Amino acid sequence: MGKKPENKVLTIIQAAVCVFILNIFCSFGVFSGEIPVERLNKFAKQMHELQKRMVGYPVNQNTDLKEFYEWYLSSKLYEVSMNNVGDPQKPGIIGMNTHEFENEVVDFFAPLYGFSKGEVWGIVTMSGTDGNSHGMYFGARQLFAQTKIQPVCYVSEEAHYSIKRLADVQNLELKLIKADATGKMIVSEFEKALDPSRPALVVIAMGTTFKGAIDNQAEIDAVIRKKKPIAVYRHVDAALFGGYLPFTEYGNFVNRKTVYFDSIAVSGHKFFGFDEPMGIFLTTKSTVNQTNPFNVAYLNQAVPTITCSRNALSALKFWWKIKKTGIRGFEEQAKMIISNSEYLEKELKKINWPVWRGEHSNTVYFKRPDKAVIEKYGLAPEFDARLGGNLAHIVVMQNVSREVIDGIVSEIKVQMSERGLSAQR
Ligand SMILES: Cc1ncc(COP(=O)(O)O)c(C=O)c1O
Repeated sequence: MGKKPENKVLTIIQAAVCVFILNIFCSFGVFSGEIPVERLNKFAKQMHELQKRMVGYPVNQNTDLKEFYEWYLSSKLYEVSMNNVGDPQKPGIIGMNTHEFENEVVDFFAPLYGFSKGEVWGIVTMSGTDGNSHGMYFGARQLFAQTKIQPVCYVSEEAHYSIKRLADVQNLELKLIKADATGKMIVSEFEKALDPSRPALVVIAMGTTFKGAIDNQAEIDAVIRKKKPIAVYRHVDAALFGGYLPFTEYGNFVNRKTVYFDSIAVSGHKFFGFDEPMGIFLTTKSTVNQTNPFNVAYLNQAVPTITCSRNALSALKFWWKIKKTGIRGFEEQAKMIISNSEYLEKELKKINWPVWRGEHSNTVYFKRPDKAVIEKYGLAPEFDARLGGNLAHIVVMQNVSREVIDGIVSEIKVQMSERGLSAQR
């Protein structure tokens, strides 16, 4: 059947409008095939400028990947699409991955967190949140497999919001446990909340996001032993502290041979310094074997991960970073960030500015300075009435030098004198 004349007119008008819109896009360079390099350069310059004074978030800005990218360009790997889909410990059907390097990254970290080579299972993740997601998922599945009862997830109210979000996503019952003014879970509150008739998925905050507090694992463990829930899984969220603690004399805090845990998640871009988010997640083979395999024939039955496609390049970068820096290099960096955190705390105390720092922590939190300082240095704000109200923090990463610290402290000093303030706590 032919179209009615008025329909034909409509089609011609529609086509003309499309051509007109396409022309507009092309004239702005959107689809023209030309890269607006000037715009990109302006953007890159802005990022480099911001990098010099962003101290409010736990990201090591000394990424130091120039040699990696030089090798990457010379190897022409940018012409290849790789994907770490599957279980790095089981050979898959698709060989275009970096599983061999991913396994070496896991092997490097296994002894640092107290896993033996034979028992460990791990992956390079997209982020700390991705690691928490796997820890909570594996934990919940293992507990259900053991008891056929849905678990309850227990975590401190000061733990990272990802735990709360993931409990939501995984439809887990969540019990938030009160924290004290330093940010640690109040263990007597945990004891009150713990229901021994249900399996317990306990998430330990190994360095809370704002105050850098470390939950007392030994005390939490004593409560578990006393109340004996029908089954327990312990996941450690060590996004930031899990990066540097193994390279200090306090490595025992993240070593499951000291205080037992089933899995641990650490961010890669925080302590280790990368140009994109990534992380590591470690658990045991026995935990992985208790998850639902959802046998995936087309991938050789080997996909225990939540995500199908996984980044192959980040595993390669992590491997590169470990080779390049080595244990000695990480030890030096860990020492430096702790010593600079002590320095910042001391300098703020000297001018009588209220300041706090948790044990072994590189997170220094203090009375919130004026907006100008907050905005200039990208300081993260928080509120706690127990500590006088408005707070801010600096996470002393490798790029937060004493020079940067001196600059911030002197700006706070200027604010104090402008307002005629002296000490106040
Ligand atoms: C304690 C803690 N857990 C988890 C996360 C989330 O890590 P990521 O940003 O790598 O997903 C953060 C981020 O700051 C954190 O501080």
